[in-house]
Amino acid sequence: MQYDYFNLWTTPLLVAMDEDYDSLKDKAIEQALTYYKPNYTHVAGILKDNLYESEFNFFDIAREKEFKELLYIEDRLKASFINMFLDYFKSNHYPWPGGMGDLENVNEDNIHVDFHEGWVHISEGRGSYHGTHNHPNSSWSAIYCLEVSDVAKEKGGLLQFNCPYNNMYSDAGLFFQSEYSIFELCPKNGGMFFFPSNVKHMATPYHGDRTRIIISVNMKVNIGDNNNV
Ligand SMILES: [Fe+2]
Repeated sequence: MQYDYFNLWTTPLLVAMDEDYDSLKDKAIEQALTYYKPNYTHVAGILKDNLYESEFNFFDIAREKEFKELLYIEDRLKASFINMFLDYFKSNHYPWPGGMGDLENVNEDNIHVDFHEGWVHISEGRGSYHGTHNHPNSSWSAIYCLEVSDVAKEKGGLLQFNCPYNNMYSDAGLFFQSEYSIFELCPKNGGMFFFPSNVKHMATPYHGDRTRIIISVNMKVNIGDNNNV
């Protein structure tokens, strides 16, 4: 029997480790902690508790203060995203029936990424959490795990990504959707996560003893000869 099929709404989540983490962590943590104000956030406060969230100019301040290690992290996230994004799609990992189209002739120099928002989360345990949300007005988002040594299944602080479907029913026939209704990850120090900004996600309540520090960015992406992001 002949039939067509469409692998709809596949969602890539790209993950890598920063191999330079050990050499930058001490200074980068010290720099990130200079932003700290107890229990402060300037957006969507109802979704979070017991954490500090900086404003979105995290990397602008790092530039002003010449925080070399934080700026390294910004560069590392950008270069890693461009590299993985291109490799992922060029390697045909994404089940897109139209093929790779214009990407076939694109190289890393033709991908322009604007980190238009960057911020830090600093959590001191005590059930600190960030409820389910996504990031508006952005293309892709990224997370850099600067200090997650005490994050664990029994202590929380895990990352959870929600399936884009509303799963109201599950049986063997829907096995391919139900396995990852919620995809949970235990982040490691130096871990970098990249995901489409419209994917809903959250951080589970954190009860660890060590300060948990996560740096996040929202980006806009342009592909082509002209950088107009
Ligand atoms: Fe988020």
